[in-house]
Amino acid sequence: MRRRSLHPPAADAIPTYQLDAFLDVFRWRQGEHVSFIGPTGSGKTTLAKQLLHRRAYVCALATKPADSTMTGLIRKERYKRIRAWDERPPLVRAEQRLVLWPPFRRPEDVADQQVAIDRALREMFVAGGWTVFADELYYLCHTLKLTKLLETYWTQGRSLGLSLVGGTQRPAHVPLFAYDQATHLFFWRDNDETNLRRVAGLGGMSAAQIRDEVTRLPKHTALYVNTRDGQLAKVKYGRG
Ligand SMILES: Nc1ncnc2c1ncn2[C@@H]1O[C@H](COP(=O)(O)OP(=O)(O)OP(=O)(O)O)[C@@H](O)[C@H]1O
Ligand SMILES: [Mg+2]
Repeated sequence: MRRRSLHPPAADAIPTYQLDAFLDVFRWRQGEHVSFIGPTGSGKTTLAKQLLHRRAYVCALATKPADSTMTGLIRKERYKRIRAWDERPPLVRAEQRLVLWPPFRRPEDVADQQVAIDRALREMFVAGGWTVFADELYYLCHTLKLTKLLETYWTQGRSLGLSLVGGTQRPAHVPLFAYDQATHLFFWRDNDETNLRRVAGLGGMSAAQIRDEVTRLPKHTALYVNTRDGQLAKVKYGRG
């Protein structure tokens, strides 16, 4: 079915879509990365979960001792919880949805968490075709020291059909690849100067306009940026 496409960018008017209408025209090919950037509570995870429905092989990386998002994926969306990549059930259907959640009860468990996630990322890289949901990019990069591996996903993943769906509250503290290697960016309102400098420093298309828009987005409205064709849209969803 042919889909309508988003409006081309215009300096003065960025079209606003309700979420359903946006999802109707949003094209996300396997292998394209998506990044969500916004302060805590802005709605990143809520929107990310909507997009993950589109993919058949999804592995969500759970890094907190307790996480209602991950529990929700397991209980409501029938993701299978595994503690290590080897616990993955055999593939019996043309889809697989996993939450990789290494045990995290004591602070020293971080070392095992690092090993388990590192291993899973390497295995998925070899297999290709997976969508990795990395909701806490800052933690994965800085605490688990997985920056290099994630950078390999961002730079090489596309040709292997690997999509990295990453979220962060701190745009200034995650690799630039999260922006310039992602085809799809979603920003929420942010007034932190350090974060805004990173946004404006993206270079190329519409950087100043994006920065300006980000400072005055309404609640529960995301600014969508397609880094490949420069399309911009505002996505309004939920009750806000
Ligand atoms: N469009 C919306 N309308 C109303 N409530 C929303 C909307 N989007 C998210 N929320 C609510 O706001 C809260 C925070 O949303 P969410 O967890 O998605 O934010 P987040 O950006 O992922 O935050 P964090 O950075 O802390 O993980 C949740 O309780 C969620 O139900
Ligand atoms: Mg979140």
